[in-house]
Amino acid sequence: MKLFTVGPVACYPEVLEEMSRQMFSHRSEEYKELHRETVEMLQKFIETENQIFLFPSSGTGFMEASVRNCVEKRMLCCVNGSFGKRFSAVAISNGREVEKIEPSLGEPVTPDMLDDKLLKCPEVEAVSVTHNETSVGLINPLQRIADVVKKHGKLLFVDAVSSMGGTELKVDDWGLDVCFSSSQKCFGVPPGLGVGSVSAEALKRSEVAKNKGWYFDFKLFEKYQGDAGTPMTPSIPQISGLKRILKIIEDLGGKEKYFELYAERNKRIGMGVKKLGLPLFPCKGYESPTVTCINAPSHINGLEVYQKMRERGFELAKGYGTVKDVTFRIGNMGHIELEDIELMLGALREVLA
Ligand SMILES: Cc1ncc(COP(=O)(O)O)c(C=O)c1O
Repeated sequence: MKLFTVGPVACYPEVLEEMSRQMFSHRSEEYKELHRETVEMLQKFIETENQIFLFPSSGTGFMEASVRNCVEKRMLCCVNGSFGKRFSAVAISNGREVEKIEPSLGEPVTPDMLDDKLLKCPEVEAVSVTHNETSVGLINPLQRIADVVKKHGKLLFVDAVSSMGGTELKVDDWGLDVCFSSSQKCFGVPPGLGVGSVSAEALKRSEVAKNKGWYFDFKLFEKYQGDAGTPMTPSIPQISGLKRILKIIEDLGGKEKYFELYAERNKRIGMGVKKLGLPLFPCKGYESPTVTCINAPSHINGLEVYQKMRERGFELAKGYGTVKDVTFRIGNMGHIELEDIELMLGALREVLA
């Protein structure tokens, strides 16, 4: 099966090989070296001097952690798809009050909307935004959103689960307080590792946070980070795999080259779909660089497209959330060969016919 999924995605063979090595203790020198090097490479990749923590959880662990460590009472969640909705559900289930901005599905969160809302709700302590809303294939204008959040002096939590690794993130320049992702997306590593940067201000909030729990306590992670470790057993194979892909990216010529590869693949998928006469779901100008969300034509629904593509050896992604029947998605993450894109588009032409 050729994978055009949105996570878990196809992994690089070198990553899988690296992950098959014999284990070692997470308190050993071998682990400390792996931990230190992976954190340093990630810091360089997302341009930050903030601490980077390695959670033995998927990316959602960082949503929970952001809320529990940094929000006492109330936060603002930008919701323009299922994962924005999840962030607000996590906050509510942890007993926090939530204000929301909810553009129509397929529309971005705009800086003006956010500015208006923050003027009306100055008491919120933090804002969450989904950088790349995987459910509808839309990328929000993060840098401009961050400018507004910082103007209002709030903390900013960024769900970069399906953008980190596929497009630029400048954590320090843009002022992102918590910015997290999962191993199984653009880095092309199996699931089980959450990675995220945490700013000094977010750590300060964590210092005084009450009932923040133990497993995702930023301050506890900071303490262990000093000795290149984690409070609990980390997902060592995934961390080894992540370090391997970061090294592959370096050898390719750096992250810009990796982003060029994503852009080229995305362009080919987008143009191919357009040639088949299929419109994209998100509003023009905000199409995701890592997942193409397509309106299914009237004669075949999204799920049928997905199933018929599977019969031809291609695993795409089903529609998600409220548009699950009327859309389907083509992932552009992980290990995808350019020639497979042409084959996949050929199969899609057959399915539509
Ligand atoms: C934008 C976004 N946020 C959060 C998640 C949840 O990530 P995880 O499954 O790693 O917890 C996903 C997963 O698809 C996602 O695409």
